[in-house]
Amino acid sequence: MSDYWDQRYQNEGMIWGETASPTADHARQLFAENGAKTVLVPGAGYGRNTRAFSAEFLVDAIELSPDAIELARKFDPRTTFIEGSALDHATGKTYDGIYCYDLIHLFEQMERDSLTVNLIKHLGEKGLLYITCFSDEDANCGLGKETEPGTYEYKPGKLAHFFSEEDLRRHFAGLTIVETGSVDEVLTNLAGETHTYRLRYLVATNVI
Ligand SMILES: C[S@@+](CC[C@H](N)C(=O)[O-])C[C@H]1O[C@@H](n2cnc3c(N)ncnc32)[C@H](O)[C@@H]1O
Repeated sequence: MSDYWDQRYQNEGMIWGETASPTADHARQLFAENGAKTVLVPGAGYGRNTRAFSAEFLVDAIELSPDAIELARKFDPRTTFIEGSALDHATGKTYDGIYCYDLIHLFEQMERDSLTVNLIKHLGEKGLLYITCFSDEDANCGLGKETEPGTYEYKPGKLAHFFSEEDLRRHFAGLTIVETGSVDEVLTNLAGETHTYRLRYLVATNVI
């Protein structure tokens, strides 16, 4: 998968611009209210979202693509970017907040399960996990070949899993779920064209 993302970052640079997702601001507020000091951002890309956290918290980020990391270290020098897979990389620490934006839907079931296990391993005592993913209410859901239940090759060679509320909750059944919701995220590409994605988010904690 790194090849696909490396090529995109080489050709398109900061693909989604400099502005963080509104969900990053939502997560930042929740983390601050919860007294967070440290934050982990898996699948951080070129640091568009890490910069929403790094002025306020100590931030580590895990990213697969070396090309994204090269951009990220310039864009957000306060964050520590670690090259590795969020499915199994262990930073050796736990965090007060974990913000995982639009990563989990890139994988089929076995890899999604590895990611959830690794996220939960990195969540500190009383920490908060904030995760976003494609919703089954998104316009792309159901396009192309269904490779597993809810997972479609919606563009040639590109898979995504589209989550229902129940499905997302099931992935994090090992945690206490604090909040779930839906948001429309508007992304602008380099040509200035906008595309709206329907996302789901979930906030969870390991406090019982
Ligand atoms: C949809 S992009 C989101 C990027 C970033 N969160 C943003 O919105 O600016 C998914 C990102 O996850 C990265 N990625 C894919 N598989 C990964 C893995 N196994 N571990 C860590 N990062 C991964 C990709 O390189 C890409 O940067």
